[in-house]
Amino acid sequence: MERRFRSLVLGAILAASPAAAQDEVRVASPDGRNVVTVTARDGGVFYSVRRDGKPVLLPSRLGFAFRGGDSLRSALRITGTRRDSADVTWTQPWGEVARVRDHHNELRVQVAEGRAPNRRFAVVFRAFQDGIGFRYEVADSAGFRDFEMMDELTEFALADNARAWWIPANRPEPDRQEILYSSGPLSRLDTVHTPLTLQTSGGVQVVIHEANLVDYAGMYLANTGGRTLRSTLARWADGVAVRGRAPFVTPWRTVQLADRVEDLAPSVLTLKLNPPSQIADTRWIRPMKYNGVWWGMHIGTETWGPGPRHGATTANVKRYMDFAAANGLGGTLVEGWNTGWEIDWFNTGKARFSFTQSYPDFDLPGVAAYARQRGLTLIGHHETATMIEPYERQLDSAMALYQRVGVSAVKTGYVGDLTEHGHAHQSQYMVRHHRRVIETAARHGIALDVHEPVKDTGERRTWPNMMSREASRGMEYNAWGGEGGNPPEHETILFFTRMLAGPMDFTPGIFDLLIQRPTGKPRTPEEARPRTTLAKQLALYVVLYSPLQMAADLPENYQGQPAFQFIRDVAVDWDTTRVLEGEIGDYVVVARRERGKENWFVGAITDEEGRNFDVPLAFLAPGRRYVAEVYADGPGANWRDNPLPVAITRREVTSTSRLRMVLAPGGGQAIRIRPAAR
Ligand code: NOJ
Ligand code: CA
Repeated sequence: MERRFRSLVLGAILAASPAAAQDEVRVASPDGRNVVTVTARDGGVFYSVRRDGKPVLLPSRLGFAFRGGDSLRSALRITGTRRDSADVTWTQPWGEVARVRDHHNELRVQVAEGRAPNRRFAVVFRAFQDGIGFRYEVADSAGFRDFEMMDELTEFALADNARAWWIPANRPEPDRQEILYSSGPLSRLDTVHTPLTLQTSGGVQVVIHEANLVDYAGMYLANTGGRTLRSTLARWADGVAVRGRAPFVTPWRTVQLADRVEDLAPSVLTLKLNPPSQIADTRWIRPMKYNGVWWGMHIGTETWGPGPRHGATTANVKRYMDFAAANGLGGTLVEGWNTGWEIDWFNTGKARFSFTQSYPDFDLPGVAAYARQRGLTLIGHHETATMIEPYERQLDSAMALYQRVGVSAVKTGYVGDLTEHGHAHQSQYMVRHHRRVIETAARHGIALDVHEPVKDTGERRTWPNMMSREASRGMEYNAWGGEGGNPPEHETILFFTRMLAGPMDFTPGIFDLLIQRPTGKPRTPEEARPRTTLAKQLALYVVLYSPLQMAADLPENYQGQPAFQFIRDVAVDWDTTRVLEGEIGDYVVVARRERGKENWFVGAITDEEGRNFDVPLAFLAPGRRYVAEVYADGPGANWRDNPLPVAITRREVTSTSRLRMVLAPGGGQAIRIRPAAR
């Protein structure tokens, strides 16, 4: 059946290709299942997408709006096409999978405007087995010259009123991504962020996102009524979306497609649509687990600024480093080391951070050397408070200082909605800024972990020092509230939405889930605190992928805890990822094999409901004996009033064994599977 379909498609391609001016052209994925059709009619150019012959996207218009009411979406015709294809496989320096195969067919559609100023552009479509990508390309002297784009008018006309999993981008602060997800029919959406995950009534999983955002504005999706979404772009302070000049290319618009929700991850479509690495020798870029002077500030036992509870003192940081070194972590993050935290920048909006001046009680070179002697790196911190110009002025000296003392990773932060001059967080201005930071950091041998970032569009392929980022509600919300912290279902949604863009620095691993206060009284379930069991905290290391994975709790909260052994053991770089079970907002079970090793790790998490799974271990090498070390929810465990019990057991398994997993309400399970000694 599939084969016959494929030859039909090929027939269509052959028939369409020779003519110069055409009204309808197509390209199919190498397996023939995903087909893009491009049509010119009524002066517009439209594309549509079918999977297995069934419509996913109905004819969706293409175009742009420029300043002064000038739009480029009518009087258009197709003037020619060109085809190409590729099949390349490469190894990522680190990742949730080691090898990525880019196998696609390409169709380049030349479009011309049939009236003055007679602009010309191309739309390039690539059809892959896991979805499609397309972008606009404008050659030199195509009637464009300098332009100010007010919006890109690309439509996504869904054939089905699919169920959408979304975060809004229509609040006064459209760029906030630290919002809880909602779900509901597509027709009820307003304006939302990408990745946007949609589940059609016919069972197709659709994820709309973008790739290779380099010198352009981040895209949101606005509902134009019914089931049609249209791109709308983040803005400069004056309302312009993109300033540019020909030649230029837009980012790729991506539509990931899968039959089952479990097949959405690992999502590598954006990597295939970014250029190869610019960093020749990537050996210095190392995935690692880390701890840091951090959670104490969020729960209020330590401060960023100076005073009796200052976290970033030399002595306190060394204590964290001793713990990191004793437990095989790779680094220690230090926030609040630099001057500027003494000002109430958050409430006044008047940040004046120095990125080179430490507080007197923090000896930067001494602490960095202390780390190096213990095989660790100090992880630096730059909170910009979205004051971009002052940061850019200091950027080179700040990175050079860190390089000089031997810091190989820096966490940056962009708390605030607009920059000091009013540019949006995902605006072209900020996209350019982030590229500048990535490239400067790379020159200084520094990897990045960006908080309040621009969304991930696959930068890590080109710049593998762009390791992790936030771009969603992480653990910090469980420390200081915000709708009472993250609900138990939160991470089961993240896995199928935010995480499809790329790694997230979620910062798991809170063991003192009741957050003991200085008075000795724990927080109540109604107050902000992590709404998970302890076993679920462990499972998050496997489920939520990040090459920089924090052991976020205070060192004293790990002391004497047998369950901490899992955090010591768990890998941060993977050869293979398999999603065994999943339902958005309910549960997910993931197995990953450690890169270069025979060890597997399984992470299972559930929402507020307890659940059982019976998982075959068929992914293990046949005929081999393994030991499974299981960290399960203990008797009576539940997120609300008994989150701490963990049952640690061990048993021998093979590829024919099954794991019966029992997860508590708000619970999880983490398993390490290692080859048995021969
Ligand atoms: C918000 C970040 O997400 C958090 O990790 C950091 O500690 C604060 N900003 C301060 O920079
Ligand atoms: Ca944040």
